[in-house]
Amino acid sequence: MCGIVGYIGKRDVAPLLLEGLQRLEYRGYDSAGIVITGKAAAGRPGTLKTVKAKGRVRDLEAKVPKRFAGTTGIAHTRWATHGAPSDENAHPHLDAEGKVAVVHNGIIDNASELRAKLVADGVAFLSETDTEVLVHLIARAQAATLEEKVREALKSVEGTYGIAVLHADFNDRIVVARNGSPVVLGIGEKEMFVASDVAALVAHTRQIVTLDDGEMATLKADDFRTYTTEGSSTTATPTTVEWEAESYDMGGHDTYMHKEISEQADAVDRVLRGRIDDRFSTVHLGGLNLDAREARGVRRIKILGCGTSYHAGLIGAGLIEELARIPADAEPASEFRYRNPVVDPDTLYVAVSQSGETYDVLAAVQELKRKGARVLGVVNVVGSAIAREADGGMYVHAGPEVCVVSTKCFTNTVVAFALLALHLGRIRDLSVADGRRIIEGLRRLPDQIGEILAAEDEIKKLAEEYAGAQSMMFIGRVRGYPVALEASLKLKEISYIHAEAYPASELKHGPLALIEPALPTVAIVPDDDLLEKNRAALEEIKARSGRILAVAHREQEKADHTIVVPKNENELDPILMGIPLQLLAYHTALAMGRDIDKPRNLAKSVTVE
Ligand code: G6P
Repeated sequence: MCGIVGYIGKRDVAPLLLEGLQRLEYRGYDSAGIVITGKAAAGRPGTLKTVKAKGRVRDLEAKVPKRFAGTTGIAHTRWATHGAPSDENAHPHLDAEGKVAVVHNGIIDNASELRAKLVADGVAFLSETDTEVLVHLIARAQAATLEEKVREALKSVEGTYGIAVLHADFNDRIVVARNGSPVVLGIGEKEMFVASDVAALVAHTRQIVTLDDGEMATLKADDFRTYTTEGSSTTATPTTVEWEAESYDMGGHDTYMHKEISEQADAVDRVLRGRIDDRFSTVHLGGLNLDAREARGVRRIKILGCGTSYHAGLIGAGLIEELARIPADAEPASEFRYRNPVVDPDTLYVAVSQSGETYDVLAAVQELKRKGARVLGVVNVVGSAIAREADGGMYVHAGPEVCVVSTKCFTNTVVAFALLALHLGRIRDLSVADGRRIIEGLRRLPDQIGEILAAEDEIKKLAEEYAGAQSMMFIGRVRGYPVALEASLKLKEISYIHAEAYPASELKHGPLALIEPALPTVAIVPDDDLLEKNRAALEEIKARSGRILAVAHREQEKADHTIVVPKNENELDPILMGIPLQLLAYHTALAMGRDIDKPRNLAKSVTVE
């Protein structure tokens, strides 16, 4: 959702900002805009030049006039919250005199109250957005400097924001502030960048400074400084981002989703690298900040996440129960935070998020910390809000994920949970032999993923066969059920085919009524202790003339088709069984001509409620 990018330096700013916005497109948006300070004679105020457009960044680009020169500017992609997607509601927003411009991510909770006051004072609003309130507050602030004006305005504002501000009278700087929405500074040679996401920066600099909540910064071409919203200076030491600009390119694939599915063997290799301890048949997870004594004191584990990350958490909970014998469960963070949860001091909470920005997860973490709980983060984006808020955790090292729907990050998150489960298990009662067995299984994963991906053509044929279905059922049992849930989510997200997932054991308690030839079932049938039970479910479906596509470790007679995947240790099988189903969803959506990387109505990072 919403993206910010800004630049101050010597280069022609408009092409730089438009390129930055393109790098943020993956987050999901419905309109875009840009404002630059035009060239000003020395000592005279500059003028702000703005272009906004509903639709894609390319629509904005088409509207930018030929002569649009300047070396300072800010730009934005908007995801509508207050007010429909339109040119007027697109950011930047400017005051009546056209002197102050603001781009904003987040939501101002008391916007209507502030708007009413401003209207009573004679301010005319040009848009329906909450952001415009901020513009007028800054423009009307009495303070002498831009920094103080912004600070004064922010004092009346309640809610979340990442903002960047330009002012025609202070055209040697960009002022930015953060509270709940990411703001990252990119430090260059005699040029400075700002963005809400490193994706927009890495093509230019990998030296970054991530602002904390309550922090502001002033960017000048050759200098930056950070300080709190109260005005006291803070120290900001730039760090180097490990992700390279090329990792954001499509790399010869037609879609990011395909690229990201294909990268999974390498990605899994990365999450394992440097963590396995063969001597004690365990893993090192230094970032957990949880010593052995504390780990032994954990009596329950509660995993929180949204969407695909929640599903990864469900598999994670199963792994923890199996390997560490600690009661564990997963719950959507969005539900958890609204039910006044009982927070128990012996429970370890684990927040899962690819982006590390999902608002519902972040809010759950903050609520837990407020109640004194210990929270770990299992996160992909280094330095993201959830990673910073947690007491410790693990990075899943999947590399940047651009497609709205998550694939490689899901797989890496599940592998990260296997590591956590092994670590906790070996501190408790998991034997050396079992520890070694799991480690060997983990090491086999990258090659086995390679084998699954090599069968893509076969899966593509099956997808074309099932693409005509109006609806699909996904079933699995125990270890297989979260795999079914995730596969059904993937299919509905990108193909828009209705799909639902059920525990195979529950079929006869209701969904069996739906089974008929027009409703195909995808069944997860691992060769484990539940094989016979799963086969019985296939019989039940076949007896009702249902079509079946099985994902199994060997051909299933009752199924119309079987995708055979390599066998690993029982506990680790779910990691592999989900992968062909990513390809099934992908090729189904492709056969239907869908916009795979940017499915309708969805955003990569949901940074609002
Ligand atoms: C959005 C995305 C999903 C993602 C979920 C959680 O809904 O569309 O693909 O699974 O957010 O995102 P996170 O970054 O917290 O894993």
